[in-house]
Amino acid sequence: MMRMTGRLMLVVALFFLIMAGAAMPTTSPSPQVGAPLPDLTPNELARFTRGKAVFSREFTPETGLGPFFNNSSCAACHEEPVVGGAGAFGEDEAGEQPTCDELEPSGGPVFRQQSTGPSLPPIPALADVRVAVRSTPALFGFGLIAAIPNSAILANQGRAGGRAAFLPDGKLGRFGRKATDADLLTFIRGAFDKEQGVLVPSELSSADLALTVDFVRFLAPPPAPGVDRYGERMFHITGCATCHIPAFITRSPIEALNRKIVYIYSDLLLHDMGEGLADICKGVAGRSEFRTEPLMGLRNRTRFLHDGRALSPESAIAQHGGQGAASAAAFMNLSRLDRYALLRYLKSL
Ligand code: HEC
Ligand code: HEC
Repeated sequence: MMRMTGRLMLVVALFFLIMAGAAMPTTSPSPQVGAPLPDLTPNELARFTRGKAVFSREFTPETGLGPFFNNSSCAACHEEPVVGGAGAFGEDEAGEQPTCDELEPSGGPVFRQQSTGPSLPPIPALADVRVAVRSTPALFGFGLIAAIPNSAILANQGRAGGRAAFLPDGKLGRFGRKATDADLLTFIRGAFDKEQGVLVPSELSSADLALTVDFVRFLAPPPAPGVDRYGERMFHITGCATCHIPAFITRSPIEALNRKIVYIYSDLLLHDMGEGLADICKGVAGRSEFRTEPLMGLRNRTRFLHDGRALSPESAIAQHGGQGAASAAAFMNLSRLDRYALLRYLKSL
């Protein structure tokens, strides 16, 4: 009798586990880097493939390139180790300080390095113009980042001083190192204009823009990090996880992006990182404010921080000032063994 009950309990418990499993957010199996999300519908997969072609399209002056531009295709910058990835190519942005003028009369804050003919407008020789360099991030898993609910981001405001980047139109900025854009469509329309001099809809159709957005949206994230309790504990006790929040659960009308765990390692909030990292104001972010950089995919990076100035994660941590200074100090105070465990953990992200 006792045994029967025990078995029944086990069956009931298993049943509940299975039920719970069915409703629980999932991590998809790990596809190859640069591959589409594994559970797309045939139509979504077709849009990914067609979008990849627009992302890789080399524009010419005849098809809308320029007159001023940084590169002739998205893929020319986002290429490492495959299309959609990071890039060696940096770019310059400038702003006048301390008024935080984004230099709109002189062509806006992103300065182009190439021209199809006319001479390039120089970075204005005003007193107080500062130049900021940006390294090119990888875009794997960005559809999942776009699908993190605003409410989940807002819930962490105030942790280590983080503040939400509410844009003038009331939307919540999350893309770009200064959290200047609320969604992929706006960021990518801006990238066509500012990086390639390609205007939508006169030089690129809205349909092709939407395909490019879907390519980025449907890029699979890097494989989920493995279990490493020791390193993870060091990440938490030094305060890294206060800003680099390990995971969120997505919500989206697109099934492949819905109720997924995204291992982003960011709160998507702005933090004051101190004078050492400060460069320009952009959007609603001040000179020393940056969106917590997602550490998702860190294992594939070779340059760190917004301008790629750090050649190792260790150096990037050491340069955390302002709201990140206490955590950086906690890292420095770890024993060699504990510090090594944390660095090994970072390399698994
Ligand atoms: C000249 C090189 C270059 C080209 C061309 C380029 N990008 Fe980028 N991309 C960058 C840099 C640099 C950043 C970081 C800018 C920032 O964070 O402020 C970036 C950032 C992004 C982001 C946001 C990443 C984040 O961290 O939030 C997306 C999305 C993106 N690019 C997509 C595209 C698409 C789509 C195209 C083609 C229309 C494109 N890029 C063309 C260099 C480039
Ligand atoms: C106060 C919030 C905060 C805390 C705490 C914090 N970080 Fe950061 N971290 C940031 C921000 C913001 C950036 C982007 C700075 C930049 O690009 O200049 C960043 C960037 C990084 C980068 C560079 C990523 C890249 O690819 O450019 C690494 C690595 C990193 N942090 C690791 C850590 C570790 C490890 C800890 C704990 C010891 C930590 N951070 C604590 C906010 C924080």
